[in-house]
Amino acid sequence: MIKVKLNLITLLTFISNIIFAGGISMQDKEIKLPEPILKGKISLEETIYKRRSIRHFKQGQLTLQHVSQLLWATQGITDKSRDFRAVPSAGATYPLEIYLFVGEVEGLKKGIYKYNPYSHSIIYLVEGDKRQQLCAASLFQDSVKKAQIVIVITAIFDRTTKVYGNRGIMYVHMEAGHCGQNIYLQAEALGLGTVAIGAFRDNDVKNILPVSKNEQPLYIFPVGLKQ
Ligand SMILES: Cc1cc2nc3c(=O)[nH]c(=O)nc-3n(C[C@H](O)[C@H](O)[C@H](O)COP(=O)(O)O)c2cc1C
Repeated sequence: MIKVKLNLITLLTFISNIIFAGGISMQDKEIKLPEPILKGKISLEETIYKRRSIRHFKQGQLTLQHVSQLLWATQGITDKSRDFRAVPSAGATYPLEIYLFVGEVEGLKKGIYKYNPYSHSIIYLVEGDKRQQLCAASLFQDSVKKAQIVIVITAIFDRTTKVYGNRGIMYVHMEAGHCGQNIYLQAEALGLGTVAIGAFRDNDVKNILPVSKNEQPLYIFPVGLKQ
């Protein structure tokens, strides 16, 4: 009797794995990023001084270390005892989610990934190069399709507004700004270029991203090799 029960459980687990993960376990789709390096080559002051919006990129590949560093600077956990992150958040409500469009990165398939700050890993969500589509949604700004990667910041406003009411809406936008500046500075410190993209069609970006109805795209950052 016990044996039959155990076999049934094994069978059900097997079937649910196939149904919910398309036959591939989520572990196969989750890529652990290398640890961020905490010592850079230039000072913070020089990085701030040199930061500029860069809209033209040369061809080539970024590395997994670049991706690790940039995502860590965007939302990475810097205090593991409290799960506090690289950017401040009103009441530590953390309303922001980070998506990564991969074009040219050594060892990564093209497609859309989502950053998991807790495990410092990325989860492969959508196959294929989607930069062209994102470029069209961003009013055909070429920087979006030419950059090796594109970071998209979305927000689930609810997480913050249920604590702070309408004032929370403003807080969420402020937090996206914090993330954006960190992306600019981290890119500069790595010798890469980026530009803040605020001009895009919300619904078109939503249709490209695998997001829920209550998740709002706020900011787009193409990051690539400076010319
Ligand atoms: C909220 C916001 C939205 C922006 N949107 C765009 C954009 O859609 N496209 C673009 O090329 N630059 C965009 N920028 C970048 C600005 O044009 C740029 O910061 C400004 O020209 C100053 O140049 P600097 O960043 O090199 O100092 C945006 C900047 C901010 C802060």
